[in-house]
This record gives sequence, structure tokens and C-alpha cells, in this order.
Amino acid sequence: MSNRVVIGSQWGDEGKAKIVDFLTLEADIIVRFQGGANAGHTVKVDDKEFIFHLIPSGVMHPNKVCIIGNGVVFDPKQAITEIEDLGAKGIDVSNCILIAENAHVVLPWHIACDKLKEERAGKDAIGTTGRGIGPCYSDKVNRHGVRVGDLLDEGELRPRIEAIASFRNDEFKKMYGAAAIDPEPVIKEYLEYGKQLKPYICDTVFFLYESLKANKRIIFEGAQGTILDVDHGTYPFVTSSNTVAGSASCGSGVGPAAIDQVIGVVKAYTTRVGNGPFPTELTNEIGDQLRHIGGEYGATTGRPRRCGWFDAPVARKAAAVNGLTHLAITKLDVLDTFKEIKVCTSYKYNGAEMLNFPNRLAVVSACEPVYETLPGWECSTEKCRTWEELPLNAQKYLTRLSELVGVKIGMISVGAKRDESIMMDMS
Ligand code: GDP
Ligand code: IMO
Ligand code: MG
Repeated sequence: MSNRVVIGSQWGDEGKAKIVDFLTLEADIIVRFQGGANAGHTVKVDDKEFIFHLIPSGVMHPNKVCIIGNGVVFDPKQAITEIEDLGAKGIDVSNCILIAENAHVVLPWHIACDKLKEERAGKDAIGTTGRGIGPCYSDKVNRHGVRVGDLLDEGELRPRIEAIASFRNDEFKKMYGAAAIDPEPVIKEYLEYGKQLKPYICDTVFFLYESLKANKRIIFEGAQGTILDVDHGTYPFVTSSNTVAGSASCGSGVGPAAIDQVIGVVKAYTTRVGNGPFPTELTNEIGDQLRHIGGEYGATTGRPRRCGWFDAPVARKAAAVNGLTHLAITKLDVLDTFKEIKVCTSYKYNGAEMLNFPNRLAVVSACEPVYETLPGWECSTEKCRTWEELPLNAQKYLTRLSELVGVKIGMISVGAKRDESIMMDMS
């Protein structure tokens, strides 16, 4: 019996949803604990593709409980759309979703502010998803946010929305010369969301506490990736939450001792969407090839993802800050046609070798990747279901990645579909 945290261990989009969907077979409860609708989590079952932004990726399995935890910034409009879309596809989730009453709510001011701030930053923009994530978290920490439970009671909601409206409208006018947003229609709209979502809203902390006592198995589904973490990533080119494994505890209200395994999801290469340094980025034909073969376009914004070779210092940082117990290596099949594959083993900085991913932006930006070249396998891995079925050079490549990161491989993914997976030692 294991409670598992599944963590993006690069810059997001590592294929976390595919891994969560697969591991849900062995779980009872799936919890999102940070981030919001900036996440784009793709699950492919048979030939049907589903993209989730807020709903946990375990939702495709019957009889599982899917929780949106207190650490998530919750956009009710987006959640209702996802629930309705699932319903239209014949998947009734009315009995399986729970939403933490103390999660913070994304409001129109947050989305507007996200966009205004980015426009004003010009060439220094972060390249956010425009989903209001940073402004919502900052109102939470500023202690004037709106929480999901407030949507159920006009007496609580009205003064909170009025406080945000007053603060943000002033900011819009003075800093951006932008139009104010009238709070009245927003109060009406959000009370309506409260009515629609009422059956799902509850104290998820005690639900999880009782579930743990009953030996239920939990998967904590990370969003974004370690190097987008607000403390441990390429600040300021990061998201506004802690994306690392420790966040699973405070973002769901479960004590850290409940967590048995931390699974770091990495692609067999690296991608990044949005701005900021990316040492192994390939702005050449090889980068285009990875994007084309890997279908590397953002699941939330559709933006082309920047692509590059596997970066071991990045994954080693993830091993350190998350305490990874296993690696789940995805998209191995994308490398099937490459004659040679490079892996960044360390960086060169100021003429010296650097093994650890640095904290300072100027240092990351100045790092030169040091590469090792491995032979490709030049055949399809898509149908492989065991380690032994993988071509020898693919085995050697994976073994080298594991060695460089210092973490054993628990799973390998060779395609987007649920069954296109190789289970290794998950003990
Ligand atoms: P997430 O945000 O980490 O859940 O990842 P995304 O859903 O944003 O992006 C991963 C993309 O890769 C999705 O389109 C998945 O369907 C796809 N995918 C996941 N695993 C594999 C794999 O092993 N091979 C291939 N070819 N595609 C994969
Ligand atoms: P999943 O869960 C990849 C990036 C944005 C931007 C930065 C800040 O699908 O892996 P934000 O909107 O969060 O303020 O943007 O973070 N970003 C992601 N990149 N995958 C994601 O989520 C991301 N969520 C945010 O592109 O660079
Ligand atoms: Mg994604």
C-alpha cells in the first residue's frame, strides 16, 4: 500500500497526467494540491483524448474520489466547463468530485491583472498562461482572497469581492490606465457558481484524514514542474506556487508522514513553454524534430513548446528538492528515429564544471551544457511492454539517465495511451 506523489521534474508537461491515470488503477483517491487552470493534463484512453485543467487526471476511472485540494487556485467557471464536458462525453462525475472549501477562487480581476502585468512587462514578460494564477495567489497571501466556501453565502462573498474590487480596480486605473470591473455582476455570477458547485464543496481535510485511517490509497497529482517552483525554479520565470512534493502536504492538509513514494516524471528529453533560461534548448532542426514528433504544443495555451536534450542537472535538482524515490520516464518513443541522442551531464560555468542546477538566474543563463552522446536505437518502442522488449540502446539510454539522476526507474512510457507503459520496480 503506497500513497504516492507524482511530481513534474522538469519545466512542466512531462506527461504527469498519463502517469497519474495509469497509477490510478492502484489508488482510491486522487488529489490536486497546487496550481490551477494553468495546468493542462492530457489523458488518452483508447483513441479519446481528454485535457484537464482542474479536475484530477484519475477521473476517467470509475469509483475513485477526485479532490481539488486547498492549495489549488480554483476557477469555478473552468471547473463547471470541465464537469459539463465530461458529462457530454458520457462520464458522470457528480459522485466523485470534492472541492476544498478553503481553496482560493480565481476572479475576473486576477485574470485581467495577469494579462495587464504581462503586457506592461513587454520583453521581460514571464509568458504566463493568462489564467490569473499569480494575482490569485498574491491576494491569498495578502489575506484578502475569496475562498470556495464563500461562494455559498452572499453575506461572506459580497464584502470579500468588494475588497478585492476596490484594491484591484485602483491598481488597474493607477498602474495600467485600464477600466475597472464592476463587482455587482461578478457577485451574482459567482453566487450562481456556488449554487452549481455546492454538492462538491466540503472539508476535504477531514475526508482525507478519515480515508487515511481506513487505509485508502492516495495519489497526489502535481501540476507544473520542479523548475517552475516559486522557490526552487528559475525565478522569476516560474509559476506562483510551490510545485514540489512538500507542497502535497500543505496543499491538501495531509501530514508528510502519510506520503510513501515520490515519483518524478521526466520526459526522455526536455521541454519548456513560456520565457526564461533553458540551457539545453535546441533552436535548430533537432529542436523542431522533437517538437514535431512529440506534438509539443501547450495543452492550455497551444503555444509551441521549446525543446532540447535531457538535462541531468535539472533532474538531479528535482531528485534533491522532492526526495524522489522513483523516476517515471515518458515519451521515450519520441526518440525512436534519432541516430544519436545527447544528454547534458553537467554545465560549464566560468570555465569550471558545475553539477548542480544553480539558483541564480544569471548563472543559469550563462551555463553551457556539457553533453555526452549515446547511440540511438532507430526502431519503434511503441509496442514494448517490458524492459526486455526494449531495444538494447534504449535500455542503455534509460540506464544512463537513471545513473545520472541517481534515482531508480519505476515506470517508462512509450506512448500517450494508458497501456503504452512499462512497469518497473515500483516497490
Ligand atoms: P502534463 O501536463 O505533465 O500532464 O503533460 P501534458 O498533458 O501537458 O503533455 C504531455 C503530452 O504528451 C500529452 O499530449 C500526452 O498525451 C503525451 N504523452 C504522454 N506520455 C507520452 C508518451 O510516452 N509518448 C508520447 N508520444 N506521448 C505521450
Ligand atoms: P502542467 O501542469 C508547462 C508556465 C507558463 C509560464 C510560467 C508562469 O500542464 O505541467 P502561470 O500561468 O503559472 O503564472 O505561468 O509557468 N506554466 C506551465 N508550463 N506546464 C504547465 O502546467 C504550466 N503552468 C504554468 O508557461 O512560463
Ligand atoms: Mg501540461
